[in-house]
Amino acid sequence: MTDKYLRDITLNFIIAGKDTTANTLTWFFYMLCKNPVVQEKVALEVREATEAENSISADEFVELMTEEALNKMHYLHAAITETLRLYPAVPVDGKCPIEEDILPDGFVVKKDDGINYMPYAMGRMTYIWGDDAEEFRPERWLLDGVFQPESPFKFTAFQAGPRICLGKEFAYRQMKMLGAVLVNFFKFKLVDESKEATYRTMFTLHMDQGLHLYAYPRL
Ligand code: HEM
Repeated sequence: MTDKYLRDITLNFIIAGKDTTANTLTWFFYMLCKNPVVQEKVALEVREATEAENSISADEFVELMTEEALNKMHYLHAAITETLRLYPAVPVDGKCPIEEDILPDGFVVKKDDGINYMPYAMGRMTYIWGDDAEEFRPERWLLDGVFQPESPFKFTAFQAGPRICLGKEFAYRQMKMLGAVLVNFFKFKLVDESKEATYRTMFTLHMDQGLHLYAYPRL
């Protein structure tokens, strides 16, 4: 173990394990505020899946958030996925071929060329997602209330192939738990409803100026 190795591991944890999920949750709560009907649907599903009473304490609620309950939250899963389609935490991902290769369309990439794929742009392309590509619509991921995964080559937020994100399932679990707890206890509203959030160009997709919310107890 050298200092450099330790530094690299630490940076990897921060970028891969923390910034990705933290940024996604920021955009997720922003989307819930912009789409209050979706926020209510998530809240309803969380109550149904956990069978929580209105007057429950946070500690009691956490006890009810079992593996089984989380797996029942298809709508929440879809809403997080829809957030990642429009606001992928890794918006651009760079690659560098170690030897010359030919892409499926015949384009030749030379050794050491820089090449990027762009989940942010792909997530908004109408020819991939249809005319409503710019709309936040969790329903597009559901069939009879059950979440329908897409090919990772179409929904590229976690990359695809052998080097697909190792933390994908863990990330969903973490984001679903936090999303479920907060939405169960609070209703969220933007401090400034008229403001459109934009991103800050960084390695991961940060929200420029952060997210300013009011949280009202959900009774
Ligand atoms: C919303 C959450 C997340 C997103 C969108 C995401 C996205 C990605 C993407 C696009 C890559 C491919 C990077 C590349 O090779 O060019 C990747 C790799 C990776 N991710 Fe995630 N990630 C997320 C959360 C996490 C979490 C929570 C962890 C760990 C607990 C994690 C661990 C990893 C690891 C170890 C790799 C490297 C895999 C490999 O190279 O074989 N990720 N992730």
